[in-house]
Amino acid sequence: MSDSSGRLSKFMAQQNDGGDLDINPIFTRPGEATSYPADRFPSSESLPSTAYQVVHDQSMLDGNARLNLATFVGTWMDDEAVKLYTEALDKNMIDKDEYPATAAIEARCVTMMADLWNAPDPDTTIGTSTIGSSEAAMLGGLAMKRRWQHARKAAGKSTDKPNLVLSTGVQVCWEKFCNYWDVEPRFVPISYDHKVLDGYELEKYVDENTIGVVAIMGVTYTGMYEPVKQIAAKLDEIEKETGLDISIHVDGASGGFIAPFCQPDLEWDFRVERVVSINTSGHKYGLVYPGLGWVVWRSKDVMPDDLIFYVSYLGGDMPTLALNFSRPGAQVLLQYYLFLRLGFDGYQRVQQNCLDVAGYLAKEIAKLAPFELWNDGSDIPVFAWYLKEGASKNWTLYDLADRLRLKGWLVPAYPMPDNLDGLTVQRIVVRNGLSHDLADQLVAEIKTQVAFLDSLDGPMPREDSVTKQFTH
Ligand SMILES: Cc1ncc(COP(=O)(O)O)c(C=O)c1O
Repeated sequence: MSDSSGRLSKFMAQQNDGGDLDINPIFTRPGEATSYPADRFPSSESLPSTAYQVVHDQSMLDGNARLNLATFVGTWMDDEAVKLYTEALDKNMIDKDEYPATAAIEARCVTMMADLWNAPDPDTTIGTSTIGSSEAAMLGGLAMKRRWQHARKAAGKSTDKPNLVLSTGVQVCWEKFCNYWDVEPRFVPISYDHKVLDGYELEKYVDENTIGVVAIMGVTYTGMYEPVKQIAAKLDEIEKETGLDISIHVDGASGGFIAPFCQPDLEWDFRVERVVSINTSGHKYGLVYPGLGWVVWRSKDVMPDDLIFYVSYLGGDMPTLALNFSRPGAQVLLQYYLFLRLGFDGYQRVQQNCLDVAGYLAKEIAKLAPFELWNDGSDIPVFAWYLKEGASKNWTLYDLADRLRLKGWLVPAYPMPDNLDGLTVQRIVVRNGLSHDLADQLVAEIKTQVAFLDSLDGPMPREDSVTKQFTH
């Protein structure tokens, strides 16, 4: 606790350095301040163009999104999307009465995704857009918790100790869910033998207080799929032996928009009966700019009524389910635009292209002497690698990440979960826009930097990079 509060104060001190933001003399007009206090309200107004330039210049320091191979989140949309975005900036998703067309489009998107994920009756499913997969995952988790509470209460049993079973490779949003909603997380460790949660020893983790199991379609650390059908089969066995009927929520933050198009025969979605809900990020492989997630339930009957709130809509009431009240509606329109614009084939081609580039990059990186692949980028277009034992005397993957960063490439290195004994991996997320040409340039840069690091006759000086946390 003291460590994290220490980190927090250091971070706050860095953000609030108390300095002023200078204004380029060209913008210094009569009556204008010549600097802004960085973290206090300026005493008076300034011209829009001046404030714009200051914010624009500051945000320029963020780096080049196209070369950011750390993020899963969309960084490019076409001109028509941008036009639509600007037209729809003012829409508030909660105002269903004022923006009934946006509300109807949201409902259509939910039905389209329910269909894409093979819900038994897509027209009667329930689901919602959210700000991202984190919120969508929380809603999925909440519904599981509430269903479990109802069942326990009906049976006259205690609801004091809910737990959720998940792999140590889960994204931080699930740790938040457990923390914020008082659910005990039961982490199943991943290892060299079980690189993902695959049902192994699951019986040791579930019990009568288990609200559900999370299966990830595209583990954030590595991009690997967890075998949902195999996990469900293990839960079937457990049910036979114990009578416990445990549901699965699929975290398809990335895979929800890859598997249906590129691995259509893989049964991971509502075709697997234990799957009650699925979340995805519209702003990842859904290809929309940041700020959009989705969660869809198998059918209305798995959604406890008491989680639903009603807002006014066309003179009546519309059921809603969200953690936020106001939130932007524009991204929902962008998602629908892309569904119409790309269709099934278009999505398939975009995603397959990413998979091809990821496969190519993985193959090229595997050829380099110091590296061993953790996976090959054939699930979602994401893969990770690590250093072979003794392969590098004077450098680590953190040093390689730093060297690549000097050249503009963001290719993060980070520690795998605890039980993997200090294993560090480096990961590439291939998104729409990382062309074969760019991939070739990246491989060339990695080779150059590895040669440089290999030529060192002493270790790279380093701050405290080994303790870096990474939660993409
Ligand atoms: C598997 C998984 N779940 C959830 C999330 C959180 O998604 P979001 O950033 O859309 O909130 C991520 C983000 O990378 C993820 O990879």
